[in-house]
Amino acid sequence: MKDKPEKLIVKGKRLDGRKMDELRPIKIEVGVLKRADGSCYMELGENKVMAAVYGPREVHPRHLQEATKAIIRYRYNMASFSVEERKRPGPDRRSVEISKVSRDAIEPVIIKECFPKAAVDIFVEVLQADAGTRTAGINAASVALADAGIPMKGLVSSCAVGKIDGQIVLDPMKEEDNYGEADMPIAMVMPDKITLLQMDGCFTQDEFKQAFELAKKGCEQIYEMQRQALIEKYGVEGK
Ligand code: CDP
Repeated sequence: MKDKPEKLIVKGKRLDGRKMDELRPIKIEVGVLKRADGSCYMELGENKVMAAVYGPREVHPRHLQEATKAIIRYRYNMASFSVEERKRPGPDRRSVEISKVSRDAIEPVIIKECFPKAAVDIFVEVLQADAGTRTAGINAASVALADAGIPMKGLVSSCAVGKIDGQIVLDPMKEEDNYGEADMPIAMVMPDKITLLQMDGCFTQDEFKQAFELAKKGCEQIYEMQRQALIEKYGVEGK
């Protein structure tokens, strides 16, 4: 891991040259996996994630079936080569937690009643990590669900805000996440439904309000990019 830099903000700019309210460059590609029902590849700065959706399909084991609606399963996995220090393959506490909160962030938009007794399985594979993988995963999963044709009330858009050198910043990258004072990922359904809000570190009440507004602005921008990526693949809504 890189040593702690003396400052994370130099001459009003962050270490990667961004302004305080600027997202990292984003790339979203829809329908990249032939064998999945829906898929999405997303880059968020140096993060590279792939989301694959399978379903609606039969539930195994059967006792997990729900008579009136589909069940949603979400698996977040980090490849061992995705991080600086090789990660031991397989689930760990962190990936179990992220799978759970990501599922909870996505589930409210899925119209589960359309598919009684079925399962919708979402797999998120992190190929390269640089802070913000859960948010990138949620964005990609949401687009992959749309690509799979799963009926949804909206898209879920997600990004984090942080506090570095006492300032609130959008979309912290690895060094900012490691050495910053706070990190708060959120996910939302436009215009104002929050489905994920976690926080590491501390904000004052005023800082929280400022951070929350900034995160909402970030989500709005990401939502537009998710929409554009879907329009590029499928054409304008209704045409
Ligand atoms: O990725 P996200 O910000 O959603 O989750 P985190 O637990 O706050 O992790 C922040 C970053 O730490 C990850 O994106 C990775 O870059 C890094 N990390 C790592 O290097 N090794 C791990 N075993 C876990 C995380």
